Amino acid sequence: MSRTVSRRILAVWLREVGVDYVMMPAGASSSGTTVGASLSPVSTVAMASPSGAAVETLDGIRGELTDCRRCPLCAGRATVVFGVGNPRARLMFVGEGPGSEEDRLGEPFVGAAGKRLDRWIARIGLRREDVYIANIVKCRPPGNRAPTPDEAKACLPYLSRQIRAIRPEIVCTLGATALNFLLGVEEKITRERGKWRERDGVPVLPTYHPAFILRNAARETEVIEDFDAVASRLRLPPAK
Ligand code: URA
Repeated sequence: MSRTVSRRILAVWLREVGVDYVMMPAGASSSGTTVGASLSPVSTVAMASPSGAAVETLDGIRGELTDCRRCPLCAGRATVVFGVGNPRARLMFVGEGPGSEEDRLGEPFVGAAGKRLDRWIARIGLRREDVYIANIVKCRPPGNRAPTPDEAKACLPYLSRQIRAIRPEIVCTLGATALNFLLGVEEKITRERGKWRERDGVPVLPTYHPAFILRNAARETEVIEDFDAVASRLRLPPAK
């Protein structure tokens, strides 16, 4: 069992036995000894990363967003759509922003585009609950427009923290908005899909947004290629 997994198990166990706070190392010296320490809630800081730095839990991040007013999208939202799935997912998807169904139900990709995404996930032998799904912005842009750069900028730190907490082996961006805002580029998805990139040491594969494929069925073969590349990199067994 890896060091990380055992720390996660320890964090869960600590919470089960009623421990609310732990001493977290502030840093480590070159000799490996701890330099300074602070008291941290187990619910917010579940474990230390291999470098000794504190890693947050998704619940800790979610807690900061319940009444978020960092951008104007808060005015029209019914729900903050935080993200859904396995907090230890090996594969994470990032879309654009919640639509009306997502806003109503508080979960990303639950409408027609989400059903198509579920199909692609099933094709590589995974279930929706095996992966993690989030968006560039967590509140619905009015009329399903793309988020503005300012809206994306306000929300992106939370997505970055989610990625750091989950530590997926691959992030798959869905559509141009997710590709461009997550990687800080201005690219055309038709040129960039299927090309591996990297963000903070995490491999990123851009592919098309499922809503685009619902309108452009002929391009779905490219998405299938991209999902096969993801499955191969994760060394997933061939789906039955
Ligand atoms: N489109 C997205 O980009 N995200 C959702 O959650 C739903 C539709």
